[in-house]
Amino acid sequence: MKEIFERTSVRQYTDEKVTDEQIEKLLKAAMAAPSAMNRQPWEFIVVQDPEMLQKLGSVTPYSTPVARSNCTIVTLADTGNSTSNIYLHDLGAACENILLEAVHLGLGTVWMAVTPSKEREQAVRELLNIPENIVPFSMIAVGYPAGEVKPKDKFKLEKIHYEKYKAV
Ligand SMILES: Cc1cc2nc3c(=O)[nH]c(=O)nc-3n(C[C@H](O)[C@H](O)[C@H](O)COP(=O)(O)O)c2cc1C
Repeated sequence: MKEIFERTSVRQYTDEKVTDEQIEKLLKAAMAAPSAMNRQPWEFIVVQDPEMLQKLGSVTPYSTPVARSNCTIVTLADTGNSTSNIYLHDLGAACENILLEAVHLGLGTVWMAVTPSKEREQAVRELLNIPENIVPFSMIAVGYPAGEVKPKDKFKLEKIHYEKYKAV
């Protein structure tokens, strides 16, 4: 369980390459996630081309870690043309699994949202040639942390409610 508490967003990376073996482990962890009706609606694009990383890193002012990484995983949802957005749960679980496996492998990551911004979706869709029925969900930059990173303590007792909600 220590990976849960050791994880923190890492936005600066060394030049050391993330290996194919590590990428496979990250994606195995992703696909071990639960999903509604076990639909497993996820798809993944592993981006390693420096030019594409630069382009994806410019999609928003907040996606610059992509440009600094040598590997970014773009997570996608195959909605099967369904209007339900339950896939948001499935993809969220898959992303968190990637983040935790990365800690286990000594890697750092940061999760960057693509959906629900239509602008971001369109930008990523065009760059990676993603068809309309597939929703670009997030980008996860992966790399060896450059410098020290410290997890935040976010535990707040007042967030926990028992049976009847009572604002404190
Ligand atoms: C849905 C989502 C979207 C996020 N988008 C960005 C982003 O665009 N750029 C970024 O640098 N960090 C992004 N983050 C990382 C958050 O800023 C980070 O998780 C938060 O500040 C808590 O810090 P921690 O991850 O170190 O615990 C995002 C995280 C989530 C879950």
